[in-house]
Amino acid sequence: MNSLKYFLSVCLLMAGFWVVPVFAADVAAGEQKAAICMGCHGPKGKSSNAQWPNLAAQQSTYLINQLNAFKTGARSNPTMQSMAANLSNDDIENLAAYFSSQPSVSAGGDPALAKTGESKAAMCFGCHGSSAEGNGQFPRLAGQHPEYLRKQLNSFKEGVRKNEHMQAIAGSLSEDDIKALAAYFGSL
Ligand code: HEC
Ligand code: HEC
Repeated sequence: MNSLKYFLSVCLLMAGFWVVPVFAADVAAGEQKAAICMGCHGPKGKSSNAQWPNLAAQQSTYLINQLNAFKTGARSNPTMQSMAANLSNDDIENLAAYFSSQPSVSAGGDPALAKTGESKAAMCFGCHGSSAEGNGQFPRLAGQHPEYLRKQLNSFKEGVRKNEHMQAIAGSLSEDDIKALAAYFGSL
């Protein structure tokens, strides 16, 4: 009896190995789904309005984290919370694969302010990458709309958007630092 049970459980285990598909994010499915994002985030994730962040070339792990954070309400924004509520885990992985594979864009930033920002940016590179291209959970900042970056830094500073590291860092920045850093990263 015991050996039969053992035999059956080995069969089940092996069947499990055979039927579990190796999941790979599907860029084409992501592109299809992205039609509902385009009205705000623009074609291929290149947004022409500073209210809506560029998603093009953003880190896929970061995109997944943010969509899940909107879904659970850990990051609050009424528009994005209702958009994310309707996305399945597969949708989120596919959308992240699609947007992260789009060519990067540069929103541009005020040149004089950007120069000031450059002199303060050294402390950001350790996490956000030496060209602010991001890495995994650390978002790309390069080319993002300065207005959007400013809004997020203020939101960390006020503790509305939560992240241990960014709340501490933003808390140490003045409004002038924030404007200058946002212009610098937007100009990359
Ligand atoms: C009606 C406009 C609108 C639509 C449609 C929309 N978004 Fe957004 N999205 C926003 C706004 C506004 C923000 C900025 C939220 C904030 O200020 O925190 C945002 C932020 C995001 C962020 C965070 C970016 C970052 O750098 O942290 C992601 C990821 C995102 N949206 C993905 C999507 C995806 C994927 C879709 C389509 C399924 C979508 N959005 C559809 C308005 C929209
Ligand atoms: C210790 C690591 C670390 C350092 C140093 C750091 N960041 Fe961040 N930053 C993060 C993480 C992690 C996130 C993503 C938080 C989340 O998941 O919501 C982030 C997010 C951000 C965002 C939000 C981007 C978006 O698309 O919404 C901005 C803006 C930002 N950081 C700016 C800066 C600036 C400017 C500096 C330097 C003054 C800096 N960061 C230094 C870790 C860091």
